[in-house]
Amino acid sequence: MFAIIGGSGMTQLSCLEISRRQIIRTPYGEPSGPLTFGKMKNEDIVFLARHGHGHTIPPHAVNYRANLWALHALKPSHVISVASVGGIRADLTPGQLVVPDQIIDYTHGRKFTYFDKTDQRVTHIDFTLPYCQKTRALLLQAASNANETIFDGGVYAATEGPRLETAAEINRLERDGADMVGMTGMPEAALARELGLNYATIAVVANYAAGRGTNVNAIPLTEIYAVLEQAMVGVRNILEHVVSCHGD
Ligand code: HPA
Repeated sequence: MFAIIGGSGMTQLSCLEISRRQIIRTPYGEPSGPLTFGKMKNEDIVFLARHGHGHTIPPHAVNYRANLWALHALKPSHVISVASVGGIRADLTPGQLVVPDQIIDYTHGRKFTYFDKTDQRVTHIDFTLPYCQKTRALLLQAASNANETIFDGGVYAATEGPRLETAAEINRLERDGADMVGMTGMPEAALARELGLNYATIAVVANYAAGRGTNVNAIPLTEIYAVLEQAMVGVRNILEHVVSCHGD
């Protein structure tokens, strides 16, 4: 079964034939909302809206540990996260889709690990390649089958939010090697790795990052949702191809 975490612009999965919703409690508290079970292209799917059903939970307040724990309990074959980003690299223009291959974490103050108990052996995870290579490959193949343009690879900078960045911060992120910036990529990816989940992300460029492209003086926030709505058509197409080719 595939698990899908929807971000801004994807609080529901319109192509999902819903069979039931389930509220789950975890040792880390409650996930962002009930898990939605259903079928997409005749394959079993579980969907979770990262920011809650009504998009009410800001990125820094998402209970990432509960979200990943709840999905992990279902033993999904893959976890695909959908996350909106600002484009830093010049070719990452609004509407573009990317499967990032690297992350830089600038978040702080979030609950970012399951391995923080003092009565546990100290545990480290390997995070050299933060996304599951096989899941990334599935997404790229599905996008190709679906005739959707998607970039293979890019460095995702995870910022704390909820405010957007200054132009100088974006310059710094670029100097660090970041291609795109979002607020939810971490600790989600690290927690997925701690649980051994096959996790990868489809990043959806919602806007030029601060100071980039046409956003020299400001980011027009009202335009972001229209861009995301349009881009989600392509994302849904890719998701349908992923599950129909690789459902198990
Ligand atoms: N910055 C951070 N997160 C984002 C952005 C951005 O410009 N756009 C969408 N999510």
